[in-house]
Amino acid sequence: MDTPIAIIGSGMAGLSAAHALVAAGRRVHLFDKSRGSGGRMSSKRSEVGALDLGAQYFTARDPQFIAALAQWQAAGWVETWNPALYRSHAGVLSHSPDDQARYVSVPRMSALTRHLLGELPATFSCRITEVFRGEQHWHLADADGRIHGPFSAVIVAAPAPQAASLLSAAPELASRAASAAMDPVWAVALAFEEALPTPLEGCFVKDSPLDWIARNARKPGRESSHDSWVLHASSDWTRQHLDLPAEAVIATLQTAFAEVLGARLPEAFFSIAHRWLYARPAQDHAWGTLADPAQGLYACGDWCLSGRVEGAWLSGLAAAQQLLAQG
Ligand code: FAD
Ligand code: NAI
Repeated sequence: MDTPIAIIGSGMAGLSAAHALVAAGRRVHLFDKSRGSGGRMSSKRSEVGALDLGAQYFTARDPQFIAALAQWQAAGWVETWNPALYRSHAGVLSHSPDDQARYVSVPRMSALTRHLLGELPATFSCRITEVFRGEQHWHLADADGRIHGPFSAVIVAAPAPQAASLLSAAPELASRAASAAMDPVWAVALAFEEALPTPLEGCFVKDSPLDWIARNARKPGRESSHDSWVLHASSDWTRQHLDLPAEAVIATLQTAFAEVLGARLPEAFFSIAHRWLYARPAQDHAWGTLADPAQGLYACGDWCLSGRVEGAWLSGLAAAQQLLAQG
């Protein structure tokens, strides 16, 4: 049996790389510090149903991603989402329909990553702290002091700041990852007993602490007995309020939500806040993947392309293709 390839991170980039490698007959083993797959596509289970706190939907523009999407749709993992779209600029709310096709996985955003994970070998709740190479093979050390390996190659599919420290065996890659800044985002979910009296299902917001509003409960396939909503703060606001207590974040974003709707809100019987420290790359790059093929060390993630689900998937594919090109 050939020596497996280690993939650190089971978000969209890591899973995309894993699929391409397995399709080419290679063995992989995924590691993730979280309890399950998905990364920023994960969904939070709650008393009001699953809540998509990270990625809200995705678009597909690249032909390879469009082909993968067609398979996911045929398998019933992904559905089109046609929200009643609005925009709020300078406090003015207006209907803002467009022709852009948008997709969500069903019944929650993380479901697609669960399907992609399938039976792939993976170790969860395992934070990798070091990636090191012996004479022939790679090994990984985790936060509990365990050593994993041997591996023939390593793909680091974590957000740039976390990837940088795992790439020290290839200083050029590490410094590029360290240069890719990522912006934070506070996310809040609210649920109301009665449906709010608005047709709005998605809203792009400017000139507010908020940048996005989604009616989570009305996305396709969601099972929710209540009217649940997800609010995303802008990265600027989040940076200025990084250490604000969750209750204060919820109160401020709820007020901003009411201002966008131009209405008083009833009391939310459920609310949570989640801070994404590395939500989105501060800028796009055209790297595709970062590679040290001679050593067998690769990095991928949305930060190598664009801060979108599609960018992450394409970057994972690029890492796998570079690795496979080495034979
Ligand atoms: P991630 O999903 O971050 O995966 C990296 C994985 O690595 C994680 O699971 C993490 O636990 C793991 N990891 C990190 N360090 C270690 C370590 N040391 N050891 C082990 N595991 C480790 N995109 C869209 O297309 N549409 C949207 O509407 C959208 N909205 C968004 C809203 C928010 C609030 C956020 C945060 C993101 C949004 N995005 C959106 C972006 C999209 O979610 C990301 O581009 C994409 O999911 C990134 O995938 P990834 O695999 O590159 O990284
Ligand atoms: P998209 O094409 O739907 O949106 C791209 C951008 O165009 C939007 O952010 C919005 O500013 C604008 N826009 C699109 N349709 C609009 C409409 N009908 N009315 C008014 N403005 C409209 O999706 P794409 O390109 O796939 O981007 C993914 C989405 O993910 C974006 O909304 C992006 O902001 C969001 N995202 C959020 C992150 C976060 O941390 N909050 C991280 C990464 C992406």
